[in-house]
Amino acid sequence: MRPRLRYYQREFRTAVAAMIESEQIGGHVSGLAKTRRTDRWWIEPLWTALGFLGFVIYSNWAAFQGEHYWHAAYLSPFYSPVLFVDLTATGAAPLQHAWFGLWPDQLRAIWPTGLPTSPAWLILAGPLAFRATCYYYRKFYYRAYFMTPPGCAVGGREQKKYKGETFLFLFQNLHRYTWYIAVAYIAILSWDAFIAFWGNGEVFTGQLGIGVGSIILLINPILLSMYTFGCHSCRHLVAGKLNCFSCGTIPQARYSLWERVTKLNENHMFWAWVSMIWVGFTDFYVRMCSMGVFTDFNTW
Ligand code: FES
Repeated sequence: MRPRLRYYQREFRTAVAAMIESEQIGGHVSGLAKTRRTDRWWIEPLWTALGFLGFVIYSNWAAFQGEHYWHAAYLSPFYSPVLFVDLTATGAAPLQHAWFGLWPDQLRAIWPTGLPTSPAWLILAGPLAFRATCYYYRKFYYRAYFMTPPGCAVGGREQKKYKGETFLFLFQNLHRYTWYIAVAYIAILSWDAFIAFWGNGEVFTGQLGIGVGSIILLINPILLSMYTFGCHSCRHLVAGKLNCFSCGTIPQARYSLWERVTKLNENHMFWAWVSMIWVGFTDFYVRMCSMGVFTDFNTW
């Protein structure tokens, strides 16, 4: 009996080993981009990789220009807020729209040679930090660029030693704080949109009117709000640490707010892309008007 039992045990082990080797049961197929999925899983990482790369190239190019970021009453969002202005630049914002006036000599003295005195460099870190640490962006760049892995149930890039979110990735934990920066930017861009309805940007003293650019600048903070207020951190902020949603007026109000934030959160990826593309488009429109390529139709 015993030899027969050993025989069956050996047979069983051999069969299991063979099945595992031929990958007929469980597990994943190993190797980069190897998968048993039959759908076109690679489309999403591909379009997100190319789309974001396009945005990075355009935004860097626009920030490098240092000019043509103002037209009539319109300010490009890549340059807002204008902390210091260099009035020698073509299409620069008027002096009264610079928070701290002219570009200071001290800053000019330490400014890297060859880098235009562009106000964009002074403010882009805020929105960049918010987007770079966003949970959706993290998902997309881990898939599209790092390939760790490129999709669900798809083989990823081989990592010798998995370190998790350590070292530089620790900064991603700052996302909840960058959210406040993003909210401040929405307030600033909303003010820019308000200014865009006054001829020459002279609030209350200029002529009240409307142009195509006014509408474009107005849509910008609205889309950014949809993205920012659908943030996972915002969801936690409005209703986190509550044990009972129905106990009292304030918990109920927080619950109702949470439901609204959750609605936005369900489409977070959509708002992330639409708002990002619109920011780029707004800069493009203001730039083209400032360069005289586009004519802004308006009531002034
Ligand atoms: Fe995307 Fe916070 S998780 S903005």
